[in-house]
Amino acid sequence: QELQMNLEQIEKGGYDHFMLKEIYEQPNAIKDTYRGRLLANQGIIQMAGLEDNIEKFLHADRIMIVACGTSWHAGLVAEYVIEEFARIPVEVEYASEFRYRNPIINKNDVVIAISQSGETADTLAAIKLAKEKGAFVFGVCNVVGSSISRETNAGAYTHAGPEIGVASTKAFTTQITVLTMIALRLAKAKGTLSNSDFHRYLQELEVIPEKVAEALASTNEKAKEIATKFKNATNCLYLGRGYNFPVALEGALKLKEISYIHAEGYPAAEMKHGPIALIDEQMPVIVIAPKQGHYDKVVSNIQEIKSRSGKIIAVVTKGDTQVKGLADHVIEIPETSDALSPLITTIPLQLLSYHIAVLRGCNVDQPRNLAKSVTVE
Ligand code: G6P
Repeated sequence: QELQMNLEQIEKGGYDHFMLKEIYEQPNAIKDTYRGRLLANQGIIQMAGLEDNIEKFLHADRIMIVACGTSWHAGLVAEYVIEEFARIPVEVEYASEFRYRNPIINKNDVVIAISQSGETADTLAAIKLAKEKGAFVFGVCNVVGSSISRETNAGAYTHAGPEIGVASTKAFTTQITVLTMIALRLAKAKGTLSNSDFHRYLQELEVIPEKVAEALASTNEKAKEIATKFKNATNCLYLGRGYNFPVALEGALKLKEISYIHAEGYPAAEMKHGPIALIDEQMPVIVIAPKQGHYDKVVSNIQEIKSRSGKIIAVVTKGDTQVKGLADHVIEIPETSDALSPLITTIPLQLLSYHIAVLRGCNVDQPRNLAKSVTVE
């Protein structure tokens, strides 16, 4: 028993929980993801599984992404980034819906299946269905040799290392890293990004691990402080636009998974079609409002929340003054371009959920009723 406990302590590497350890591993995990694949100075992105099959992607009528849970959120980010960079139509679907709705799949479709564990039953079934209909299926998995990595026609591993905490953290950011590299590689082949933009994104992706490290160092205390104020909340709303809409969904998922607080993510503009009715002085609203990316629109959403006395927690770019004047709490993050911002904006939301769950005495690494990999439907 004692030996078991000590072993676990060692595995946690000095952190109180695996989740916190994995949150802090993200700078290195992202580096491991792009190592040997992203050669920013040479203007090269190369992933064997993609290079061998690049024609399939370039001739695809569309890309369909299937996944579950957090991986599905990474898929939504990929939709924005692949469409913007490579101009290929993308659809993202829950694997569980895809597999049962008689979807139209053609030989010229490329299906990307995203899965940390590589064992999720619904995702596996969706892959089998897509293959039966003749689509080319590309996997983005973390676990090497997993069922999904074997069932797909080709793929790219995330190389995030083992993720033990049930709530996914480093798997999410490394999935986004792989999917962004795919988008950039396709953009280069198609000529849909200017040379200078392509090189700028490569350089920027290369320094993302440093920015993630900076975000970890600069937002943790603030997240802890905010957590003490909102630990007894019963509901929470997360809002974001564009690239940060999926981040809002993921932020809400993290909170509900580990703290059992009801949380919902919404595209900020959809607030007025429902959630705004919930806003009063009891309602914490977390708004993702980086300087790049629909900033003015998000600021007006913040004003709408404020005029209804909602409690505003805003994630802003370092040095922001406008939102600071409106929000109850601000969390500052390093600046990065809109398309890469999910890799940074996600960090304080992970930390906020973590600290709230710890303060509520929840079992952070193994929340009730949840499993790390869902191998039954
Ligand atoms: C479970 C896990 C989530 C994960 C989802 C999909 O619900 O608790 O963290 O996002 O499954 O898992 P996958 O391994 O396919 O990414």
